[in-house]
Order: sequence, then structure tokens, then C-alpha cells
Amino acid sequence: MAAMTEYQTVEAGDVVYRDGTIKLHGPQGFEGMRKAGRLAAEILDALAEQVRPGVSTEALDTFVREMMLDGGAVPATLGYRGYTHSCCISINHVVCHGIPSPGKTLRDGDIVNIDVTPLLDGWHGDTSRMYLVGDVPLKARRLVEVTHECLMIGIAQARPGARLGDIGAAIQAHAEQYRYGVVRDFCGHGLGRLFHDAPEVVHAARAGTGPELKAGMFMTIEPMINLGRPHVKLLGDGWTAVTRDKSLSAQFEHSIGITDEGAEIFTLSPTGRDKPPY
Ligand code: MF3
Ligand code: CO
Ligand code: CO
Repeated sequence: MAAMTEYQTVEAGDVVYRDGTIKLHGPQGFEGMRKAGRLAAEILDALAEQVRPGVSTEALDTFVREMMLDGGAVPATLGYRGYTHSCCISINHVVCHGIPSPGKTLRDGDIVNIDVTPLLDGWHGDTSRMYLVGDVPLKARRLVEVTHECLMIGIAQARPGARLGDIGAAIQAHAEQYRYGVVRDFCGHGLGRLFHDAPEVVHAARAGTGPELKAGMFMTIEPMINLGRPHVKLLGDGWTAVTRDKSLSAQFEHSIGITDEGAEIFTLSPTGRDKPPY
């Protein structure tokens, strides 16, 4: 028998635990997520001017941290499970969780994901975008474009009464039309007062399966799409995930809330810069 999904209504000020329940939030939760999401999106907007050949990923990490602190937030990743940076920066065949470093500099032709999560007034705004460094070959630009389409097609499935699997099914169908590989080893996730909570939002799934979506659920959708095979491996640092076949990988992430009508995207760019070219 399939495990039953438990939902828990969260009132303002409630302490919540990672107990497997899917949290359902009210207006205060939406207000908190709007603020955290907006700051996260503003940071990604500002990064468009910082990303250029020669810049180190450490310098970008410092920029992100300062913008978070200036905005009254703290980087949720700082000290998270031993991670010591303010964002993740994943270049070319790095799938996710690339660690900023002074020795790692961006080069002409790179495609780069920057993933930021400010924790503002107790709420997590988790979002990432791809950036193009200088002249990027068409094949890579097309991967980036289709990955953004995958994210938005997934979000379009999100509404009360739909099933979680509908999101992954739509993403998978779109990516595989281009013969791209959908990464299985990392998922989207519930979030809110917690950074990573139930449910796991898989990006390859069967339609009509999984928990029912209900108004008040908060989650990320963050497909990682590879030019080659879906398989990844973890480097010795314990964080950096790369494609096994060394093919390029792209990712976009939004934090959303399920509303009565569909989904509200908390992390949309206030200036319309949701995808390159910026
Ligand atoms: N922001 C990532 C996500 O989308 C999580 C990064 S956790 C870290 O879920 F520790 F690697 F930073
Ligand atoms: Co996330
Ligand atoms: Co993220």
C-alpha cells in the first residue's frame, strides 16, 4: 500500500519540524516568502553585472553574502550541513553545489548557475539562474533556454488537485524531446521556515502519481538538465556534483506557493531578467 501523505496547517509563529509532513501555510507565510523571494531575485538580478570573464567565484560569493546582509537576511547555506559559503556556483559540467573558491575564475564561453537562499525573517527564498559568460556556443545556449522552459512548464502544472508527479512528468517530457538527460539524484523540495522539507519534488516522474497539491504548499522546482546522460557523480569535496559523462548541465530554480488558482512564483525577477540574455 502506498504511504499516506500527511499535511499540517502552519499558523503564524508555529515552530515546524522536518517530520515528513507537508506544511500548508496561510497569508503570513505567503507574505514572508514574497519578501525572502524578492530579495533572492534581486541578488540574482545584480549578479548579471558581476558575471564576466576573470571574476572569481569567491568574489561572487562575497557579493552575494553582502547583499543578503544588507537586505537584513543571512545566507541559509552558511553553516548548513558544514557548507561554509553563501551560495553555490556551478560551472559547465558541474550539476549543482559548486563551491565558490578564489582559484576558480569564470572564462569566456562558460555557462554558470548561481543558486542563492537568503533566510529573511525566518523564511527561505531559494532560487537559481544560469548566466552566460562572454561568447557561448549555440548548443550550450539552447540547453540553457530549454532548461528554463522545463522549469516554467513544471510550474504550469502546479495547482490544487494536481499531483506532484505531474510536475516531473511535464519537465521530463519536454527535456527528453531534445534528448537531454534529466538528473534524478537531486530534487526540488518543500521549504518555508525550513530550508529543505517534504515533499521531494522529482523532475522525472509519472503523471497522476505522488501527493496531491493543496493551496498553501510551498516548494521549489529546480530541474537539472544535462546535454548528455542524466548520471552524476560527487567529487571528493563531498559537495560538487558533476555529470559522469562530462557533458554540460544547466539548472533554474524558483520557489513557489500553491494558491487557489495555481501557483505564485516568489522568486520572479522584478526587472524581468529571469533568463539570459540579461
Ligand atoms: N540552494 C540549494 C537548493 O536548491 C541547496 C544548497 S545547500 C548547500 O536546494 F549547502 F549546498 F549550499
Ligand atoms: Co532548492
Ligand atoms: Co537553490
